[in-house]
Amino acid sequence: MTIAVLGGTGPEGLGIAARLLAAGDDVIIGSRVAERAAAAAATLAAEVPGSRVHGARNPEAASAAELVIVAVATVGVDAVVADEPFATRLARQKVAFVLADYHELETTRRLLGGLFLNGMLGTRTDMVAERPEVVGKVVRTVKRALAWIDKHDAGQMVEALAPVQPEERATLLEVLRRRKNIYAPDGRFSDEQLDTVDRFLHVTEPATKVLSFSVRSCVEARWAGSMP
Ligand SMILES: NC(=O)c1ccc[n+]([C@@H]2O[C@H](COP(=O)([O-])OP(=O)(O)OC[C@H]3O[C@@H](n4cnc5c(N)ncnc54)[C@H](OP(=O)(O)O)[C@@H]3O)[C@@H](O)[C@H]2O)c1
Repeated sequence: MTIAVLGGTGPEGLGIAARLLAAGDDVIIGSRVAERAAAAAATLAAEVPGSRVHGARNPEAASAAELVIVAVATVGVDAVVADEPFATRLARQKVAFVLADYHELETTRRLLGGLFLNGMLGTRTDMVAERPEVVGKVVRTVKRALAWIDKHDAGQMVEALAPVQPEERATLLEVLRRRKNIYAPDGRFSDEQLDTVDRFLHVTEPATKVLSFSVRSCVEARWAGSMP
């Protein structure tokens, strides 16, 4: 697996990276400065013979990796975007507090001006063109799951998921009780939701290539269908 360690030039990041390399993973050391990343990667390569490691600036390291570990100095983190159930757990442990919750319909309306699209099924364009029956089958499976969710309460969902850890069970229950209304009963989505996702991308990602991007260009509503 290719793993990026952001702030991997510090002692904590270097230590994690050395262990990942020894375990056979590919590592990208991230830094605010490309030369510092390259120097730290060279040090690690010398320490762990045969390792696959290189350095990059934090944004490039994060986009090239399958898994990202953030090991920057505490002072460098002002805010993080966290998905559930981790956000609830961090808030409960009082190591973070929630600035804005995009799963709350009122918050998304107030901050982004419309309903948000919280989940999507993704695949390659060649799968859509060449194996439409497989895509259709996956979509039907998800739609069956959504219909099941619609007919069951949070407690029944947790029972079905059967988490092993008691803490995980408690967090899931708490999250699903609050979140039940974010699931569409049939998987259909609206133009309003796609527009809100575009607005979200444009305000949170300043890169010019994103400003000309529309999520609509990668949406295929053939199987799930769209709402008016
Ligand atoms: N060291 C430990 O024993 C230990 C134990 C448990 C937890 N931790 C936690 O692990 C994290 C890393 O610890 P550490 O001791 O390795 O930290 P560190 O040496 O203070 O910082 C790690 C790296 O963060 C980057 N950095 C510094 N200021 C930044 C900023 N404003 N924005 C973005 N990046 C910044 C620097 O990399 P560049 O200058 O190359 O960008 C630096 O090399 C911290 O959050 C710490 O609380 C550390």
